[in-house]
Amino acid sequence: AGAVAAGTGGTLGWWWAAAGTDTAGAVEFDRRLPIPPPAKAHHDAGGRKVFHLRAAPGSHRLRPGRPTATWGVNGAYLGPTLRAARGETVRVHVRNGLPEATSLHWHGMHLPARMDGGPHQPVEPGGTWSPTWTVDQAAATLWYHPHPHGGTARHVYRGLAGLFLLDDPEAEPTGPGGASLPSRYGVDDIPVIVQDKHLDEDNQLVESHPLTSEVGVLGDVILVNGVTGPYLPAGTERVRLRLLNASNARIYRFGFADDRPFTLVGTDGGLLPTPHRTTRVQLSPAERAEIVVTLRPGQRAVLRSFPPDLGLNVWDRRFAGGDDTLDILEIRPNRTLEPSPRLPDELAAAPALADRDTPVDRRFALNGFAINGKSMDMRRIDFAATRGVTEIWEVTATDGAQHNFHVHDVQFQVLSVDGEPPPPELAGWKDTVHTRPGVPLRLAMRFDDHSDAAVPYMYHCHVLYHEDRGLMGQFVVVEPGQEPGGPGTESGDG
Ligand code: C2O
Ligand code: CU
Repeated sequence: AGAVAAGTGGTLGWWWAAAGTDTAGAVEFDRRLPIPPPAKAHHDAGGRKVFHLRAAPGSHRLRPGRPTATWGVNGAYLGPTLRAARGETVRVHVRNGLPEATSLHWHGMHLPARMDGGPHQPVEPGGTWSPTWTVDQAAATLWYHPHPHGGTARHVYRGLAGLFLLDDPEAEPTGPGGASLPSRYGVDDIPVIVQDKHLDEDNQLVESHPLTSEVGVLGDVILVNGVTGPYLPAGTERVRLRLLNASNARIYRFGFADDRPFTLVGTDGGLLPTPHRTTRVQLSPAERAEIVVTLRPGQRAVLRSFPPDLGLNVWDRRFAGGDDTLDILEIRPNRTLEPSPRLPDELAAAPALADRDTPVDRRFALNGFAINGKSMDMRRIDFAATRGVTEIWEVTATDGAQHNFHVHDVQFQVLSVDGEPPPPELAGWKDTVHTRPGVPLRLAMRFDDHSDAAVPYMYHCHVLYHEDRGLMGQFVVVEPGQEPGGPGTESGDG
């Protein structure tokens, strides 16, 4: 067994936690992994698929001992898994049972800005917000979480988050000999929502701390689907894990303790063009990865997070969790396993939006709590994109700190990383990407949604403390020929 987890509460504990946490071999996997329940839905007279969600305070046993005061959606912690297919029209009734305003944002969803659930769509206590839209994008592992300006970190940290899975039955990858991806939810297709928490002696959430790091709260307790020390019984030869980094700040570099290879099949916005065999996949906050792992009968496999590759020039990698090795989840295969179909050779080829040398349309420098020197202002629209036009954005973190970059409404393609073609894990649709200090990323995206000019979309760092402090901007999408900056581009409700 490796070193024991540091950080048992109190100032000294926190200090040690911040200075490096190593739980490799030290986690007792003694709780069966809970699977977030599929959200119930019914169809209304207009054929829309209707969901009901309610955010409310609760109490949940995150780890053995005293339950923790939490917030949850339709339950005490996290929320149910919503699911819809391409072409389906959904309507979600979001009720707020919390003592303060919140919102629910559909992270990764292509939809009109008014349905997006950003900071301009607060739901007051006791209120209900009912967005509706038609799903029009590839099959993907999306998620939802609150987005109240200045309060996102706290609301997510307390437990408000869940998955929103999209299917595209016409584009299901198949291959010779019945090749397909494992896709039985909760059986061989498993949601793995990973979060870190800092808990006090009474198991209550510590939300801030005098020694809190430059990235906000960095926890030394790892939860999967809301519990510590989880194990997953497995009955099939192959298991697909849908990994979501739903942490406020921590970056994970997932792999297996025995270094077994696995297959990366999907990222934020859908499946990769082809399966990618690897031993590590790194996720910064809000990023997703779908991996397929092959099991051996009776042989346990531990999903572990290795010290992430944060890039050069990080001024203090300890405060970004850069030295941490963490045990996440133990998979326990039965002694006899049901055979799984082989994986398809082709998954989801998407046509390239642009060439690598297409000129840059906009540049974004992430520095401190500002983008291009400006902090978020609810009343300021930073720019207008034109509907139907592909734009190239160049994004660079220029302050030596850990950031990432998320854009609402679109899935983008990474054209280059420091001028080079993107690695395989960045070859598919993305909505969030890690920015290594000083390394420019070029992204291609097309805005083809009908946005009215009054309600903006957001782009921001998904380190939630940074976002809350202002590392965020707003854009609108205007019709071709329409002048940006006219009446209505100032939404005025900030
Ligand atoms: Cu996941 Cu603007 O958010
Ligand atoms: Cu940041």
